[in-house]
Amino acid sequence: MTPTMPPAKVYVSADALAYEVAKELMNLASNHSSDRPFSIALSGGSTPKRLYKLFGQEPFRSRMPWDKVAFYFGDERSVPPEDEESNFRMARETFLDSVPSAHYRMEADSGKAQEYEALLDDHLPKNEAGLPTFDVVLLGIGTDGHTASLFPGTKALHESQRWVVMNEVPQLGTVRMTLTYPVINAAHNIWVLASGASKQRIVQGVFSPTFGTPDWPICSVQPTHGSLRWWLDTEAAQGTAVA
Ligand code: 6PG
Repeated sequence: MTPTMPPAKVYVSADALAYEVAKELMNLASNHSSDRPFSIALSGGSTPKRLYKLFGQEPFRSRMPWDKVAFYFGDERSVPPEDEESNFRMARETFLDSVPSAHYRMEADSGKAQEYEALLDDHLPKNEAGLPTFDVVLLGIGTDGHTASLFPGTKALHESQRWVVMNEVPQLGTVRMTLTYPVINAAHNIWVLASGASKQRIVQGVFSPTFGTPDWPICSVQPTHGSLRWWLDTEAAQGTAVA
């Protein structure tokens, strides 16, 4: 039985994609009725920068219910928060410093994965499997099919118990902190953002798999209770039969 393809929407540009994601996030956060904050796990890299910059601009700056939203991270590099490689620094500089929402940095530079697990345990509701459930997990994809810091051939791909781990990434010669599949897949909404021609091969492999398509890490992002959506621009979706 061919796997059902996740819903995907294609936008004319990376800017249009970012605007629609920001709009939908604002819509979900505004309609969030729980007394707990609306929890968003941010992805790193360059793709989400456009989205994060929009948060710091009108209409989102004044219309997003920032006091109802809490920001977390899906992964982080093992660098100090002021390092140019830091996902936290990127999020701070693009919007976090200009909005009143609570936000929780992954202290990857000190390897505090268990502390981040404890933070998730304290702050997030649990599903019936006892897993912390984010309202939204934002993900990107690398040209090698990685997502968060779940890279091909790395140990964290096989982690089925821990929620957050330090993952050695030999191909980068570094260690990164990352959410694991159990937590990512427990989210209510998993949104994968991909823009640009460099992502075509992965998008095609996911949406039009052939016999030889590798089992990329992004392919194991399969929501257990929530939903998975891909947000693509025309360049990334080129050559793929998506809606
Ligand atoms: C990171 C991200 C990572 C990213 C992909 C895509 O820390 O780098 O979490 O998983 O989403 O590498 O990065 P780009 O958006 O820069 O292509």
